[in-house]
Amino acid sequence: MQNSKPIWILNGPNLNRLGTREPDIYGHTTLQDIETACEQTAKSLGLKIDFRQSNLEGELVTWVQDAAIQAGGLILNAAAYTHTSVALHDALRLCRQPIIEVHLSNIFAREAFRHHSHVAPLAVGVICGFGLQSYVLALHAMQMQLNQS
Ligand code: DQA
Repeated sequence: MQNSKPIWILNGPNLNRLGTREPDIYGHTTLQDIETACEQTAKSLGLKIDFRQSNLEGELVTWVQDAAIQAGGLILNAAAYTHTSVALHDALRLCRQPIIEVHLSNIFAREAFRHHSHVAPLAVGVICGFGLQSYVLALHAMQMQLNQS
């Protein structure tokens, strides 16, 4: 059954600097490019999205708490907080809807400290390494999840 609640897409610290941030790793795609691609993909899939970014851990925690009530599903690129935030992990435990973890880069091909995720144990799946397409793939995966439930 298709869920009518929006899919929340939350982005963590420094992702607002995509485009100029470490282009050798993240390319020249901006967060606005990603939001536009997500809007287009969501429209084609018949989904609604709520797309947000914050550099603040507490704000992300509050958004995850809100998503637990208001979202049909959650796509999360927690950026560096993926690897550090027990607070985010605890907030994600409140969510009963599907969670999909995304990253632009392949975190497993990078430094060892990026190999651990506090998000992954609570996610139905993790998509990383495909740049902007990680988000597009996550929306397709989310639709499949919602159609199964
Ligand atoms: C990232 C990977 C993280 O390790 C890093 O801290 C980021 C971006 C990614 O999308 O590839 O800020 O989440």
